[in-house]
Amino acid sequence: MTAGKVASANIDWSSLGFSFIPTNGHMKYTWKDGKWDQGEFVTEPWINMHIASSGLNYGQECFEGLKAWQCKDGKVRLFRPQNNADRLRYSASKACMVAPSRELFLEAVTRVVKENIEYVPPYGSGGSLYLRPLLVGNGPMLNLIPSNEYTFIVYAVPVGNFYKDGIKTTNAIIIDDFDRAAPLGTGSVKLGGNYAPCLPSTQAAHEAGYTMALFLDAATRTYIEEFSSCNFIAVINGESIEDTTIITPDSPSILPSITTQTILELAESFGWKVIRRPIPLEEVRSGKFDEIAGCGTAVIVTPVHTIHHQGQDIKITSNKTLGPALEKIYSTVRALQMLEIEDKFDWSYPAEGF
Ligand code: PLP
Ligand code: COI
Repeated sequence: MTAGKVASANIDWSSLGFSFIPTNGHMKYTWKDGKWDQGEFVTEPWINMHIASSGLNYGQECFEGLKAWQCKDGKVRLFRPQNNADRLRYSASKACMVAPSRELFLEAVTRVVKENIEYVPPYGSGGSLYLRPLLVGNGPMLNLIPSNEYTFIVYAVPVGNFYKDGIKTTNAIIIDDFDRAAPLGTGSVKLGGNYAPCLPSTQAAHEAGYTMALFLDAATRTYIEEFSSCNFIAVINGESIEDTTIITPDSPSILPSITTQTILELAESFGWKVIRRPIPLEEVRSGKFDEIAGCGTAVIVTPVHTIHHQGQDIKITSNKTLGPALEKIYSTVRALQMLEIEDKFDWSYPAEGF
């Protein structure tokens, strides 16, 4: 199938959520005998894996998540994909994997967008084409040693406006019976192996009526780390919006989020005070923060009204939607991503050609 026009697939764009739906196909590259191949566009949504592969047997796998969308001028762009390329390389290094170069990564993500151009949701729908690069050890390594072969995949799925019915504050629960990441562990990398062990806590949180699971530091269980699939940011409102302070945990065991980095750089450009430091749970309890949110590629910014811990509700806000500071951040990020305002940071990256 050849690439058609943006958003020409027969899809009800307004009904999209965040789940897999088939597209034209994915990009697949193989590293073998010391080099990457040319890559191919594969239309079947399956890969061949060796039964003894280090990916299947020992979890030698890492991944990324980024989005492409149609901007106001009709062109399709990605957002800061260089950062995802670098983070994949960093993740790979923590599991002794051979990673694609930045150039190869950028070629792969732009090619997959081009090949799936009909699945890029139209400007104004609030949707995007979510790209999932993943790297997996695929050589037959019965022993616990790094693979001698790697498969690098990028697949694409159209996803809907996360906030179809408008942004609403939600609740979270602090997880006490599981540590997401040890101080010298792999919390700062996007290894698949970090995620499956969070499933029991997140599932229990959902069953108990909480949307987000929030983890504390494993060593002392007194500092905020991050949510299961996004970072934690807090805001202290000032006398006026110009006096806003934005704070995010400084910890070696949380994922360095590209969304958080974007938010902090924007906040700095607004003249706000930006602080990265350990955040004691006690400060959250004391009511110091006026706005708290989770932030990441999938959710962008999800404001939190209540955090539950050990039978107690910590009330953050009675707002039903974003508070003033996060609203300014959110609307600026969206406007920048859609190129409704000038991208003076040079964060947008052309996706249709390569
Ligand atoms: N933290 C975790 C554990 C995540 O899975 C994600 C999602 O990718 C993030 C934070 C947010 O990172 P980013 O903004 O780069 O998507
Ligand atoms: C993303 O936000 O891109 C992620 O990878 C989160 C995922 C666990 C849904």
